[in-house]
Amino acid sequence: MSEIQKKPVGIMETVLRDAHQSLIATRMPTEVMLPIVDKMDKVGYAAVECWGGATFDASLRFLKEDPWERLRKLRDGFKNTKLQMLFRGQNILGYRPYADDVVYAFVERSIANGIDVIRIFDCLNDLRNLQAAVDATNKIKKQEGRGSSQIALSYTLGDAYTLEYWAKTAKQIEEMGADSICIKDMAGLLVPYKAAELVKTLKENTRLPIQLHTHYTSGVASMTYLKAVEAGVDVIDCAISPFALGTSQPATEVMVETFRGTEYDTGYDQSILAEIADYFTPYREECLKSGLMSTKVLGVNIKTLLYQVPGGMLSNMVSQLKEQNAEDKYREVLEEIPRVRKDCGEPPLVTPSSQIVGTQAIFNVLMGERYKMATGEFKDLLRGNYGQTIKPMNQEVIDKVIPGEPRSTARSAEATGRTEPELASIEAEMKQYKQQEEDVLSYALFPQVAKDFFEYREAQQTGVDASVADKENGSYPV
Ligand code: CO
Repeated sequence: MSEIQKKPVGIMETVLRDAHQSLIATRMPTEVMLPIVDKMDKVGYAAVECWGGATFDASLRFLKEDPWERLRKLRDGFKNTKLQMLFRGQNILGYRPYADDVVYAFVERSIANGIDVIRIFDCLNDLRNLQAAVDATNKIKKQEGRGSSQIALSYTLGDAYTLEYWAKTAKQIEEMGADSICIKDMAGLLVPYKAAELVKTLKENTRLPIQLHTHYTSGVASMTYLKAVEAGVDVIDCAISPFALGTSQPATEVMVETFRGTEYDTGYDQSILAEIADYFTPYREECLKSGLMSTKVLGVNIKTLLYQVPGGMLSNMVSQLKEQNAEDKYREVLEEIPRVRKDCGEPPLVTPSSQIVGTQAIFNVLMGERYKMATGEFKDLLRGNYGQTIKPMNQEVIDKVIPGEPRSTARSAEATGRTEPELASIEAEMKQYKQQEEDVLSYALFPQVAKDFFEYREAQQTGVDASVADKENGSYPV
């Protein structure tokens, strides 16, 4: 009997984070998650992704749930499975850079409450914006023997993004002390043969495990995984079938079946996966019926490949143009996006650079003159406040938009003056609401949303202010 050398591929299940973020605007409540955790814990997943910026924000804002409490409940249930989260570099889970002490405190609390793997990305791929989070994770790992950091490269296309660039970046990530690398293809731009090339190159240049994250948006994702696994990728991100495809990930069961009997066999039990799918199917039906899940996001959107614009960015753009009664400018704006992107150093398009570039492109088209007006965020990008872009920015645009202003070449926390600890002053601002250490961090990230939540929580506990509860129920998504 010939023996095949086993190299089982791992799967990270995304149904508790990215899949519902992509398909139902991150609205899955904890009560839907908990009854199936026990079963999910038996699959043997490489990890379950369950936390991130959008899940944190939506928990507080729309679901009126404490995201820390959700994490603790999931940790209780997942006895054998690693829990993973997504982390926006120096922005943590928020939208501005924080001083290092806040980054350290957030990493420490995340791991203490149950996170095992922290996936960290930066919207410009400026690795300096990731170092504090990696160092914080390594510090905890040393102290407690738990926690690992994964640096995600925001995948994008453009002159600067050669195989040499990705190879060099992978080496730097290894030197930074991260435990693994993720290729984060948020728009579904990575096509199968390119994926094979990229994985092979990374494998040749680093010893770190490589995980691949993509979205089904453009329709190529399962084929991309097939080629990437053949090229040696270690883990792929998938979603259980009722929450797969469309703008979400390839289906877990499909990838498991694809590799069955090969050297890449996951070894997962399809009958357990079928029970998990059966559990989520009625919830999917409910979401479709209520309109929370739209059939619009379930098909293939080939435009993402044509325009290299993430699906979420396209739908934002359409609604912004609608508001301005300028839907006829759609094509013009689409053509302006790559030009704006070039002018500001060709960054990847991912939160928040995607919104910054998209909105500026709309301004340029609607004003009838390029850069006649610029958004505050676009100016900050030109000032270097988000960090450095891979390519130089267009000097003419800089001279027009921020004439004579100083520009920073530092990492984002320093460029924006966050060089001193800021946690104590944040705590002083919110101390009347504090019931647990974690509340300070919720407030640091989303001050207004967290304050509203704390008031709601207090009203629930004391039962005095029913009007708050009613008002909040009114803001539940439909
Ligand atoms: Co994603």
